[in-house]
Amino acid sequence: MVVGPQQQPLGTGPDEPRRVAVIGAGAAGLCAARHLAAAGVPCTVFEQTGNVGGTWVYNERVGMDQFGLPVHSSMYRNLRINIPKHVMCYPDFPFKKGGRSYATHQEIRDYLKNYAQHFDLHQYVQHYTHVKRVTPQGSRWSVLVEDLKTGRVSEEVFDAVLVCNGHYSVPYTPTVPNMSLYGGVSLHSHDYREPEPFAGADVVVLGAKASGLDIALEVAKVANNVFLSHNGDLVPSRLPDNVQQVKGIKEATEDGFVLLDGTTVRASAVIFATGYEFSFPFLAPECGVRVVHNRVVPLYKHMLHRERPTMALIGIPYCVVPFVIFHYQIRYFLSLFLGRVALPSKEQMEREEDADMQKHLLQFPARHTHKMGDLQWPYLHDLAAAGDFEDDMWPVVQEVYDAVEEDRKNLLTVYRSIEYNVTGRETYERVLPPSAGLLPKQAQQQQQHLQQHLQQRLQQQPVQIK
Ligand SMILES: Cc1cc2nc3c(=O)[nH]c(=O)nc-3n(C[C@H](O)[C@H](O)[C@H](O)COP(=O)(O)OP(=O)(O)OC[C@H]3O[C@@H](n4cnc5c(N)ncnc54)[C@H](O)[C@@H]3O)c2cc1C
Ligand SMILES: NC(=O)c1ccc[n+]([C@@H]2O[C@H](COP(=O)([O-])OP(=O)(O)OC[C@H]3O[C@@H](n4cnc5c(N)ncnc54)[C@H](OP(=O)(O)O)[C@@H]3O)[C@@H](O)[C@H]2O)c1
Repeated sequence: MVVGPQQQPLGTGPDEPRRVAVIGAGAAGLCAARHLAAAGVPCTVFEQTGNVGGTWVYNERVGMDQFGLPVHSSMYRNLRINIPKHVMCYPDFPFKKGGRSYATHQEIRDYLKNYAQHFDLHQYVQHYTHVKRVTPQGSRWSVLVEDLKTGRVSEEVFDAVLVCNGHYSVPYTPTVPNMSLYGGVSLHSHDYREPEPFAGADVVVLGAKASGLDIALEVAKVANNVFLSHNGDLVPSRLPDNVQQVKGIKEATEDGFVLLDGTTVRASAVIFATGYEFSFPFLAPECGVRVVHNRVVPLYKHMLHRERPTMALIGIPYCVVPFVIFHYQIRYFLSLFLGRVALPSKEQMEREEDADMQKHLLQFPARHTHKMGDLQWPYLHDLAAAGDFEDDMWPVVQEVYDAVEEDRKNLLTVYRSIEYNVTGRETYERVLPPSAGLLPKQAQQQQQHLQQHLQQRLQQQPVQIK
């Protein structure tokens, strides 16, 4: 085990083989196993399902799984990614060449399976094991696990815990006054799977971020009308004729909703695309982790338990490229765990946290202090510097991320037909769909729409289209 000359590794003495528990075998947990294994640190990955890949394992089922646990995945049948796959991937495991940039959920699941196979990670994963409770035990951690197949509960002690349980599984549903009066169908996007049940209906979709926009567009293909209800700036893209942007919901009525501007809409279904909650039901109160107004405390660098730094919570930042964030956070943790670098004093960590929070508050409301956007790039560089490891994300990732953000804003209904090919560390090609004559009718219409918008944009702002 590598130990820096002056640093004491986190956890117990440097001579003992120190073991790490990883909770969850999604993209974050697999990334943890990959780097722990490479550093020779023994780990066990507890995964409550029979698969690796976490939320990318599409499940038709909603509600409870066969063991009575809430279905974890929030994928819907037609979901395609919203960041091109050649920049969405882990920096050390590129996607195979070819195929569409905006891959399906199945392709991402396969990619994660390949990652697990390539780095020989299955040996560390214990499937159908549900972590019920994590409790501090001195400087170590007791982890109580249920074997879901036998019902047997056992306890093991670890030197460190990496919490990789995913943060898009526990739905946040706002309280809507008079909701009990409403006679229509109501569901959260976590439980949305396909548009067909909404054929011919008038549907309210509340929330206009990734889930709300995507679901509104696919439901609109079969629904009568879709009311995209939100309190943000108007979505600038042209939307299908049967999608109307309206204000957020004030209260429910028997057959619809009163909106915040006093107007009313009638609808036989409402889909709450209102996001998710951070949830760590298995962390005992003694662990000292709390969620205060959507901020997880007490964390250092949005990940490390400041009071007990042998625990890290991976993947808390959002509006990011998640796999890249995991790849950096895990290596930062490992550098500390192995004693390659030391943590600053508690006072220094608190000062840094306050300064970081102020930076976020300049851009985002108080409930979004883990939101990153542009802040993710300096965040990644900072982790690499603090952890003294290779800052291996190519600059092109940021370039493409920014370009795609513009596409999504202006070309929402068609942006996934643009291909992004990474051609070097700092270069990429942005390829428009092939000539309209070669495409089926629907794609032809999409392309015309795309070309129209691109023309308009070209007149406003020069962009290079290769
Ligand atoms: C609808 C949707 C679309 C998305 N689209 C994109 C996209 O296009 N591009 C992108 O980069 N990201 C996207 N994301 C974000 C996605 O969440 C991340 O890419 C990433 O997969 C998260 O990985 P994770 O390992 O943190 O969590 P998850 O994938 O949620 O995995 C967590 C794992 O932990 C397990 N687990 C949880 N609790 C326990 C327990 N107590 N005991 C044992 N096991 C447990 C779960 O079973 C699961 O396997 C999307 C998310 C959603 C919900
Ligand atoms: N690949 C894809 O195409 C795809 C599809 C779906 C999801 N995803 C990913 O999944 C993750 C979750 O996305 P998400 O869209 O489900 O959640 P989200 O990003 O948290 O968005 C939820 C939205 O609902 C709004 N909201 C909450 N309560 C509301 C209320 N009472 N009235 C009006 N609006 C309300 C929120 O507003 P505030 O911002 O004001 O809080 C926010 O804008 C993201 O990482 C996303 O990228 C990807």
